[in-house]
Amino acid sequence: MGSITIRQLDDDLKHRLRLRAARHGRSMEDEARTILRDAASEETAPAARQPAAARRPTPQPQSPRPTETADHLKRVLLIVGGGIAAYKSLDLIRRLQERGVAVRCVLTGAARHFITTLSAGALAGERVFTDLFDADTEFDVGHIRLARETDLVLVAPATADLMAKMATGAADDLASAVLLATARPVLIAPAMNPRMWSHPATRRNLATLLEDGVIVVGPNAGEMAEQGEAGLGRMAEPLEIVAAALPVLSAHPGKLLAGKSVLVTSGPTHESIDPVRYIANRSSGKQGHAIAAAAAQAGAEVTLVSGPVALPDPPGVNTVKVETAQEMLAAVNQSLPVDVGIFAAAVADWRVEKAGTNKMKKQAGRPPKLALSENPDILATVAHRTRGRPALVIGFAAETERITEHAKAKLARKGCDWIVANDVSESTGVMGGDSNAVHLITKDGVESWPPQSKQEVARALVRRIANALAETGR
Ligand SMILES: Cc1cc2nc3c(=O)[nH]c(=O)nc-3n(C[C@H](O)[C@H](O)[C@H](O)COP(=O)(O)O)c2cc1C
Repeated sequence: MGSITIRQLDDDLKHRLRLRAARHGRSMEDEARTILRDAASEETAPAARQPAAARRPTPQPQSPRPTETADHLKRVLLIVGGGIAAYKSLDLIRRLQERGVAVRCVLTGAARHFITTLSAGALAGERVFTDLFDADTEFDVGHIRLARETDLVLVAPATADLMAKMATGAADDLASAVLLATARPVLIAPAMNPRMWSHPATRRNLATLLEDGVIVVGPNAGEMAEQGEAGLGRMAEPLEIVAAALPVLSAHPGKLLAGKSVLVTSGPTHESIDPVRYIANRSSGKQGHAIAAAAAQAGAEVTLVSGPVALPDPPGVNTVKVETAQEMLAAVNQSLPVDVGIFAAAVADWRVEKAGTNKMKKQAGRPPKLALSENPDILATVAHRTRGRPALVIGFAAETERITEHAKAKLARKGCDWIVANDVSESTGVMGGDSNAVHLITKDGVESWPPQSKQEVARALVRRIANALAETGR
């Protein structure tokens, strides 16, 4: 079958198509597709054979609705920044297309030093946009159209420069102008030298972007293109980026876990010494509660088994309050079966073997000797269940040294599917604080997430869970 491009049309036809496209707020390519589709349905639809007066009028959309194109394709505007990882974005185009996503590309000036518009255009199957002051597209303010005619703006690689522009609201080229003009979700895949990534300026920009609601995937740790350099800064792999993009593109992004049941444990446990004294830990429950809230917002039926915390119960969540590890295990067992179990509580490893029923009296020079016995391992108990095991069992690891190494060992030991590991050394302020920098350990490896608020960690985890359930058909 032959193909025809807009360029091949004669000037008059091109002019009329341009005006019609501008009137409908569509690109010329989309307008041509609409005309062809309408013509084809006129040919084939029974209604087309009826007299014109008998036909039902086709409702005309008041404004373009990218998510409701006739072919129901999801659309991604891929902005490629000027970094070595730009070559991976070519693969990313293919990976998105394989999942039924239409990709339109914007290349920054710097990106064109790394990949060509020719290769990006050939893979995307349509022209690539590069210039803010392009007479062909700006007759109807094309950068606004690009910002609007998509379901997701994806920046990969997101250079330090692009992140800085986004954080400050600069708009001096096509990519930054589109990013400032869009009301669609924005997902970035940062890629840069580890020193650029850890520079305070980039940290500040990242914090601003996260606050603005930008979603971040990666970067990963590993070797850099620069010889002998390694560290955090490699762009996430195309499939990881796809995994982060798909839930955002899904029909009801707010209800990613609709129909799923989720159990979350949160907070510390208190193990009695006597009626007034107890053994506890510094867990605030903020991360677990944020996860329960995010899962409920995503449409899941959520049970939160919480140790003693000074937090309000998350809205829309069935909260069960317990004190001790044994009570927590009993409440967890009662809540099963569920689709997903997330064990974020900091459960005391030991309890006092014989807690006093009366307050122990202080006896000068004779402090009591507390005999301890081991508490049940709630995570391992649930993960090793043969019946009623959740499809996805996620543990948390609070570590103060060799974080990922210990977390990997915990993943194997406990028999769970994922471990979310965080550094709870005093200097990080994670315990009781509002932000968290976590590593997600799965059987596929370690993913280090940038520091972000506990709510953002919760939302990112929910997106990952939804995606994992969707990929395995659960
Ligand atoms: C060989 C080479 C590799 C580069 N790789 C990166 C990179 O991986 N990440 C980054 O942030 N900047 C990188 N830069 C610097 C950017 O290209 C530069 O900051 C540029 O202005 C980014 O423009 P853009 O953000 O508009 O694409 C690299 C530059 C060169 C010459």
